[in-house]
Amino acid sequence: MKRARIIGLGHYVPPKVVTNEDLAKVMDTSDAWIRERTGIQKRHFVEDGMGTADLAFEATKKALQDSKKEAKEIDFIILATLSPDYFFPGSGVLLQEKLGIDSIGALDIRTQCTGFIYGLSIADTMIRAGQYERVLLVGSEVHSTALDLSTRGRDVAVLFGDGAGAALLEATEGDQGVLSTHLHAEGRYAKELWVEAPGSLNPVPILNLEECRHFPKMNGREVFKHAVTRFIKVIQEALEANHVTKEEMDLLVVHQANLRIAEAVREYLRLPPEKMYNNIQRYGNTTAASIPMALSEAKAEGKLKEGDLVCLAAFGSGFTWGSALIRW
Ligand code: COA
Repeated sequence: MKRARIIGLGHYVPPKVVTNEDLAKVMDTSDAWIRERTGIQKRHFVEDGMGTADLAFEATKKALQDSKKEAKEIDFIILATLSPDYFFPGSGVLLQEKLGIDSIGALDIRTQCTGFIYGLSIADTMIRAGQYERVLLVGSEVHSTALDLSTRGRDVAVLFGDGAGAALLEATEGDQGVLSTHLHAEGRYAKELWVEAPGSLNPVPILNLEECRHFPKMNGREVFKHAVTRFIKVIQEALEANHVTKEEMDLLVVHQANLRIAEAVREYLRLPPEKMYNNIQRYGNTTAASIPMALSEAKAEGKLKEGDLVCLAAFGSGFTWGSALIRW
């Protein structure tokens, strides 16, 4: 049976490092507050003129190198982001242009922190159907240019960072690859973590910037509670669908939202620390980029071996959540 297999991974963060102490210079916060509640120590921010597609391009070059493939061998592009370069068109077409590959399809996904899992599911389905041989899947985010970096926005602003992760997927007939994906959404929670404007209901001409509706808003406690329970459920869903136990899982990579959330999930599942990979300490929450960035680093550190059973899970704004089980 045909399925998609990840044959190359790459990640990129812009050079500028922003520590918790740096944030404490522009808002009323502290390194201790941020570390204790989120595990984050630093994040990367772009300099002026660098956009989401630029980060995606850098990560893609590394994924192509890792897979020993060339851009022209890509049949389709999927780019997940909540921070596109422009309102429209999406950043997928900008990435296509940077890669110099004309006229292949390019799809943007807007399911926030769950974007990589949704993209993986779509790519796998396309490959299973025989439509494409090779699909490029990228998560890329520039949060820093749209955060309220003042005390007013501190609950959200300290969490996020910029970065991109890319995965090249190829059709395989063997045992390796994506075994299953599981996608969920519940729109009644849309306003628990959102950017309200600008949008079709609140277009720029009527926007009063002093109301700050263009900055992300989050009900932190509610998001935390839902995240822990849904992560656990959707991981169990993936394991049950494939008739495997959590003990058989070699590595769990959850969307890097908050180290406390990841640890709560790991402790509930009674997994030893070495079976979970986290890097939020260095990058903050990079939304759609966080899972491919973590996979890319885990691979580089030798923590992903052929034959490993790897579970990915994400939860975020929407609410959206999902999981994937992969035989590496
Ligand atoms: N620095 C210092 N103080 C801050 C702060 C910051 N960056 N952000 C908020 N505070 C203050 C609040 O104003 C509040 O003060 P008050 O009690 O005087 O009103 C207090 O800290 C809240 O602290 P606490 O109750 O300990 O916060 P918390 O335990 O709920 O943690 C989050 C806050 C945001 C870290 C937590 O709710 C969280 O991680 N939620 C999930 C976020 C997430 O993962 N989002 C992405 C999902 S994909």
